Amino acid sequence: METTAINISKNLDRIANENNIEMTDFYNEATEDYEFWSKDFNMHFGYHIPFKTNIFKRDAMLNEMNKQVIKRLCINNRPAILADLGCGMGGTMRYALKSNEYLTAFGVTLSDFQVKKGNELLKNKNGIILKENYNITSFKANHFDAATAIESFCHSGHSKNSFKEAFRILKPGGKLVIADAFLKKDENELCYGGAYAYKKLCNHWSLERLGNIENVTTTLKSIGFSKVNIEDISFKVAPSVLHVPFAIIGFTLKKFFKNQGLKLESLHNLKGSFFALLSGLHMQSFGYYVITCTK
Ligand SMILES: C[S@@+](CC[C@H](N)C(=O)[O-])C[C@H]1O[C@@H](n2cnc3c(N)ncnc32)[C@H](O)[C@@H]1O
Repeated sequence: METTAINISKNLDRIANENNIEMTDFYNEATEDYEFWSKDFNMHFGYHIPFKTNIFKRDAMLNEMNKQVIKRLCINNRPAILADLGCGMGGTMRYALKSNEYLTAFGVTLSDFQVKKGNELLKNKNGIILKENYNITSFKANHFDAATAIESFCHSGHSKNSFKEAFRILKPGGKLVIADAFLKKDENELCYGGAYAYKKLCNHWSLERLGNIENVTTTLKSIGFSKVNIEDISFKVAPSVLHVPFAIIGFTLKKFFKNQGLKLESLHNLKGSFFALLSGLHMQSFGYYVITCTK
């Protein structure tokens, strides 16, 4: 029995390490593919509100996620400085700048492609994207009124270092809002199917791991965050996750008809999206959460 468990675990590790690619290479090469997912270059899932967002309009749901996150940051209609930790192409920053004319936004990413192209999209706006590691930024302590991390801290495994750095750069009273997928149990408690989907997801999207939501809550409190509010929004995110198979087919057909091959990174991205959907179906093991907490 023990041997079988060890073999299964070894097999899963082998699967996880197959074709592993660096996170920065992944984003440098695959970011432009996201235009197919979102015209506004939102590199995250959406937030559906019945009778408000149309489930067939993906960008409306993706932008609703921006709106929900920004609402929780409490920075509307006042001068404020926002940090977007793992900002992608700055989709959330642009949305925030549009909704608050007094806002200044700084985004950080490790991808050169995102720094260059994201800053082009931010031209003449009060925001800038810097090439910085969100685990150890060069920002001064107590500098930001708010910080957000949408589907980005998962690349560092929802590590304590990422939360500590966010805490350091926030002003007292400043809010951190994280929107991401988390585990509802420990990795070693996942069923075979769940563990398989999870390992493949982490491998193809270059994620270190997903944190266990309970442990993450405890960690945030231990760092000093107060008013830690955890919302399970899995059902609100599900309609946009269900767009994944259609987006994969549409993207592949587009490449096929344009006679363009698929880059390794694009293939990883497509497979990662598929395994995100597969992981999401294991509802007892995975959930999508918005975490709001205050320094
Ligand atoms: C899935 S994208 C999400 C982008 C953006 N938050 C959005 O929702 O559109 C993940 C982002 O995290 C960034 N990232 C991952 N690890 C990082 C790190 N250690 N420091 C800075 N950025 C990082 C990637 O470069 C990428 O921009």
